[in-house]
Amino acid sequence: MKDVDPATLSADDWDELHFPRPDENDFDRVVESALSRRGFLGGVLAFGSGAAAMGSGLLGSTSAHAQTASRFAFTPIAAQTDGTVHVPEGYEWQVLMRWGDPLFSEADGYDITDGGPVENSDKVFGENTDGMETFSFQGHQLIAINHEYPNRKINLPAAQEGVPANADDVRKLQNLQGVTVMEIAETPDGWTVVKDSPFNRRIHHNTPMKIVGPAAGHDLLKTEADPTGTTSLGTMNNCGSGKTPWGTYLTCEENFNGYFGSSNESATYTPKVADGFKRYGIKAESWNGYELFDPRFDTSKNPNEPHRVGWVVEIDPTDPNSTPVKHTGLGRFKHENAAVELAKDGRIVVYMGDDERGEYLYKFVSNGVYTPGGDTEGLLDDGTLYVAKFNDDMSGEWVPLTPETTGMDEAEILIFARIAASEAGGTTMDRPEWVATSPVLAEAYCCLTNNKNRGVKPNAGGDDTSVNGPNPREANKYGQIVRWRPANQDHAETSFQWDLYVMAGNPTVHSDAYAGSENVNEGNLFNSPDGMMIDSTGVVWIQTDGNDDNEGDFAGHGNNQMLAGDPITGEIVRFMTGPNGCEVTGLTWSADRRTMFVGIQHPGGSWPDGGTPRSSIIAIKRKDNGLVG
Ligand code: FEO
Ligand code: CA
Ligand code: CA
Repeated sequence: MKDVDPATLSADDWDELHFPRPDENDFDRVVESALSRRGFLGGVLAFGSGAAAMGSGLLGSTSAHAQTASRFAFTPIAAQTDGTVHVPEGYEWQVLMRWGDPLFSEADGYDITDGGPVENSDKVFGENTDGMETFSFQGHQLIAINHEYPNRKINLPAAQEGVPANADDVRKLQNLQGVTVMEIAETPDGWTVVKDSPFNRRIHHNTPMKIVGPAAGHDLLKTEADPTGTTSLGTMNNCGSGKTPWGTYLTCEENFNGYFGSSNESATYTPKVADGFKRYGIKAESWNGYELFDPRFDTSKNPNEPHRVGWVVEIDPTDPNSTPVKHTGLGRFKHENAAVELAKDGRIVVYMGDDERGEYLYKFVSNGVYTPGGDTEGLLDDGTLYVAKFNDDMSGEWVPLTPETTGMDEAEILIFARIAASEAGGTTMDRPEWVATSPVLAEAYCCLTNNKNRGVKPNAGGDDTSVNGPNPREANKYGQIVRWRPANQDHAETSFQWDLYVMAGNPTVHSDAYAGSENVNEGNLFNSPDGMMIDSTGVVWIQTDGNDDNEGDFAGHGNNQMLAGDPITGEIVRFMTGPNGCEVTGLTWSADRRTMFVGIQHPGGSWPDGGTPRSSIIAIKRKDNGLVG
């Protein structure tokens, strides 16, 4: 981590600060363990040809070894280190919306510089964009977009060093996060936001929500303000996203722990609450100082409030008056995104990663069946939550989290899903970020972004994190993407086969496992895969949130970027690069699939247009208006 000024830290970096990296890595053991993983370095090839054998006529090449023509409709671009966006020849990009831009006329002139005002901070586009999805509704194009966390250094007056000085400061930070729903339209001059559209809406840390599902109403969810344990305020640290078949948006609460602190460091908690705080990283010291002026975030006064976040939240983007719903059936952890699939029989399957070093990959399967136009109640709550167990022979199984496998009751399994997953013997992973499922093949992918603790120290629950099949490198600095194919091509099945689609690395620096897998080369170097979506043609779009120093281990990687991967051959090429300092995260398409919308989070310098750097959504098109996904 380069910057240790706490006021500039992301929630993720805040965790880094609290778990500093060890000085030494055992590289010899890394090589030995990774290379001894049978089938691993060749896994791309073995699994790729298997995918071809599944019979998707859409996917061109059938041999990973064959030097066939690339399936990609663009010329890959080189790594970049400058302060702007680059796309391939024949493509163009524009900024659609920037942090602080008004969603409503009353917020015209809202100025983010010098710590903008609290007034109207809930009527502008929020900061630090992340997951997003588009929706078509009665001729309107809507887009829902997450705002993960605020840059406290910029949002608060400079003299305050990122620490709130009053309740208004806290309220402003709370307003600039959460979710934006807005209407967009394509005009002869490009894409624009429809200001004052009745669909425009900001959902933030004080928006009323419902809590539903098996854990709703449990004592651990009750507070003085909500003695029923069924209503809460706000959604926070909204990271990745998902979309249901019935047209609602799923926003995923990730690093919620940092929003809570305690005014009484010696406060005591019941053993269950204390164990949960330890496993989920809730400490007396908060990341953002909310508890100084908002007692809801003071755990010595409201010890159950942290149990009311860490969920997946469903939002109806077509009804600006709808109440968002927290689904306890999907478990509580640091949710990255929610990849929704239909099982063969119509049951709902949701894949979810818990982005923490040595935590787990989960799957929910509903009891009920989805029928278009039918009642969807319970489809994200009534069912079974599973944790993934990967075997070294490249098979795997989904272990149900039940009283029998965990020794816990149903509600506590969901509220403390991490503890339940440990009890059930899941496989500790290298920080599961986005899961993406393929619309053309019965397979799913998960970005395992990196894990400096792999083989170095156990997770917060004390689980062993020695190298294992899908996480084969100690002190993993580059990350990898694991892929699995469910038995019988049915995502509801409890067994699967897995391989590694790619192991990022640097073959120009290393000749051991840190060189990466065979499909990593000098022309496509990247690290820390994070965001991921698979388009309607099966192309795997990979976004990165990694080291962009472009030096040493990361020489030639350049700025964070978006790459495109062929699921059959394993070929990966660079499509887009972001401005230096940024993370590229969030991807969705217009209804006609002639525009892709991409999120640029926390850009450095003064992107996009001079002055204060602003996270933004960009629209990318082919100049000939061809399909882009
Ligand atoms: Fe918000 Fe794990 O990324
Ligand atoms: Ca992410
Ligand atoms: Ca990340």
